[in-house]
Amino acid sequence: MKLWGGRFSGRRDPQFEKFSESFSLDQRFVLYDLRVNLAYVQALRRARVLKPREAAQLTAGLEALSRKIQRNSNWAKGQAAEDVHTWVEAELERIAGGVAGKLRTGRSRNDLVATEMRMYVKDSALQLAHSLADLMDALLVQARRNSSAILPGYTHLQPAQPILFAHYLLAYFEMFSRDCTRLVDCLVRADELPLGAGALAGTTFAIERERLARDLGFSRVAGNSLDVTCDRDPAAELVFACALCMVHLSRLAEDLIVYSSPGFGYVELADAYSTGSSIMPQKKNPDSMELIRGRSGAVLGNLAGLLAVLKGLPSAYDRDLQEDKAAMFAAVDTTLGAVQIAARVVATLRTHPERMKAMTELGFLTATDVADELVRRGVPFASAHEQVGKLVQHCASLGKTFRELSTQEAMQFVPGWDSNLHEVATSVQRSIARRDVTGGTAPRQVARRLARAEKAVASLRNPFG
Ligand code: ARG
Repeated sequence: MKLWGGRFSGRRDPQFEKFSESFSLDQRFVLYDLRVNLAYVQALRRARVLKPREAAQLTAGLEALSRKIQRNSNWAKGQAAEDVHTWVEAELERIAGGVAGKLRTGRSRNDLVATEMRMYVKDSALQLAHSLADLMDALLVQARRNSSAILPGYTHLQPAQPILFAHYLLAYFEMFSRDCTRLVDCLVRADELPLGAGALAGTTFAIERERLARDLGFSRVAGNSLDVTCDRDPAAELVFACALCMVHLSRLAEDLIVYSSPGFGYVELADAYSTGSSIMPQKKNPDSMELIRGRSGAVLGNLAGLLAVLKGLPSAYDRDLQEDKAAMFAAVDTTLGAVQIAARVVATLRTHPERMKAMTELGFLTATDVADELVRRGVPFASAHEQVGKLVQHCASLGKTFRELSTQEAMQFVPGWDSNLHEVATSVQRSIARRDVTGGTAPRQVARRLARAEKAVASLRNPFG
């Protein structure tokens, strides 16, 4: 069956039929298609295009089809069609007869598919946000469980300054919380009804678009028929939100891969999310995290691919737009899978605070604190930096830590050295406590952020509640 046969008499190339079909992908829209059709039948009835009896026949047919599909998850097996919209109309004709031919009065697949795409975007954004809330919960539970653990903080992957492990976890909480709000923003912008826009110019029938919008759960009606039939911003925004979320997940994955390596040994992944080697019996590899890191590349590709499809298209609908679905489905599926696994990995992560603490002794993480203390005594920061730098060079060349320094030795490089500076140089606890600014790593500040985050995650679960 075709929705457009009249104009053609030549035979179509079966290979091109296969090349151009989208049913294999957009069959995922089938329940949206049925829902939209059910609402549209009522709009046609109110517009007096359908007699009440016809509307009832179509409604019964669409409901029967909907029940059939929901009963059988394998409904699409062995089915073929140009796209899901064509398939539904053909099935409806089988069930309800010739009246099915009245269904697409005044509309086009252009406004239809745009409507279903937006329904999918809205649902997927919420689903992703819910899964992200699980991941954020897992981060918060670990932060509570390890609230006093001290981690060597790194920049350039070189030891930098000590931080609370909870502060580290809360950094990812911030990233994922931005991802959530981005998804909700995307949902809110997608929340406009295309149906009624027709192929590009609107419809000649008295379709009450505001009423249709309400029936289909849209907050508003799209204001320009030309724009909305080719607008794929909702898909692009959703894929971007996925791509950035995958970037965050990939960075978390990289951290956990490094931190779980025996050279660091700060964390250990549960067996359930690790894999062994077929030759080296001792191996326990963080494959779950590596796959997340690896798959992030594909989602970035989905975004680049989708934007490339959109650029340079003449207005309004062009068949190129059919390609939005492959990018969108792949990005959402990959991201959802990655978020769900990451949540479980974080929830089951074993931590080794004693290893973290031991490593804070190496790498002179308190060097900035020593320089800051000299500044408090009146030394310009530039000189303080130079003095402490020389002291570190001396220690490093002898393989010593600050703890093993004698006063005379230290005074060669830092003339003002005394027991108080020694204390500053050797207490990571005090180094952390001193960073008592909003957003800093001092325990007081982190506790405040953690409490706030625990409240926030509850409301993220229900953004419209
Ligand atoms: N399958 C198409 C898509 O997903 C919808 C059909 C619109 N086709 C057309 N020739 N106007 O974009």
